[in-house]
Amino acid sequence: MIRTAIIGASGYTGFELMRMLSYHPRVELVAVTSDQFAGRHPSECFPALKGRTLPFFQAHADARLENCDAVFFATPHGTAMHLAPDLLKCGVRVIDLSADFRLPDPDLWKEYYGQEHQAKAWLKNAVYGLTEYVRESLPQAQLVANPGCYPTAVQIGLLPLLREGLIENQHIIVDAKSGISGAGRVLRQQSLFCEANESMNAYGLSGHRHHPEMLTHLKRLSGSSCQLHFVPHLVPMNRGIYATIYVQMASSEGAIVREFLQAQYEDEPFVVIMAQDQTVSIQSVRGSNMVHLGCYGLAGGMAVILVALDNLIKGAAGQAIQNFNLMFGCDETTGLPMIGL
Ligand SMILES: NC(=O)c1ccc[n+]([C@@H]2O[C@H](COP(=O)([O-])OP(=O)(O)OC[C@H]3O[C@@H](n4cnc5c(N)ncnc54)[C@H](OP(=O)(O)O)[C@@H]3O)[C@@H](O)[C@H]2O)c1
Repeated sequence: MIRTAIIGASGYTGFELMRMLSYHPRVELVAVTSDQFAGRHPSECFPALKGRTLPFFQAHADARLENCDAVFFATPHGTAMHLAPDLLKCGVRVIDLSADFRLPDPDLWKEYYGQEHQAKAWLKNAVYGLTEYVRESLPQAQLVANPGCYPTAVQIGLLPLLREGLIENQHIIVDAKSGISGAGRVLRQQSLFCEANESMNAYGLSGHRHHPEMLTHLKRLSGSSCQLHFVPHLVPMNRGIYATIYVQMASSEGAIVREFLQAQYEDEPFVVIMAQDQTVSIQSVRGSNMVHLGCYGLAGGMAVILVALDNLIKGAAGQAIQNFNLMFGCDETTGLPMIGL
């Protein structure tokens, strides 16, 4: 069994990790941490976990994790960079759901996260865990930086097209929407029901933190830089990411681009290309690790790529487990839901 712990298990992504890992046939959950709920069973925090065999919550500082095989960090940014290096030195393999190790450039990290990076030496060693594109690196990876939810959606939509030169790499417009759980389980005014319900707003217009992440890894993984106009929106749904991506096609037609995406992702267990007469919806991916992709030709040589995923699963905990599976030699789909609710 793989001795596994979750730091920050009382949050939304921590819950999803506990939910899915409690069914994982090779995982023994040895520690889950929370300061708020220390000493209590996870089902007191999440009644859905009633009846599951899980360890009681420990305060973050009390958990002894050096003997774990794997530790997931489901913590706010700025946490894992302090705690992960000591675990890594002990040979523990770390999967960080936060942004701490996603940007290889510490100056860029400081610019967007407002603090000095505390584990610069590990930035270059972290594997950026967009699973479909880094499978060969995962079996040896000691530290995986799990991608953000928007970057997962946008990169899965754009990477094959940029790599093949099927679309222009300038003026790509990403109009993206997120459910409220994207902001975590902490109290925030914009997450209150009366603020979010029956409303919608753009945010992050002065520079969203996921923007440099997308630009960095699109360039790294496609081999060419691109210009991306990214406007995220908060919409009144519990969960889900929906990205509407407008691209100028280099020469092909929308149907050819869709066929190309179909061929690229044919063998992927978690990526589905919708047919021309089908739309892409969050409803169909909710609760699963699936990404639904659509491509439709528009006038003037433009096309629109639609991408839907569940921010808490493929956008966070599900992709983290997908990476974990490949790190530990399990089948990639083990423990992961493949059908939306
Ligand atoms: N929500 C999403 O859709 C999503 C998607 C992709 C990535 N992520 C990233 O995943 C991480 C977790 O997100 P989330 O939405 O699950 O957040 P969340 O619901 O706010 O939960 C945060 C968790 O971190 C713990 N925590 C807070 N401060 C801590 C500290 N100093 N040391 C250790 N643990 C601490 C909290 O535990 P206690 O307060 O109980 O101690 C709680 O369990 C974030 O970095 C987020 O950016 C989130």
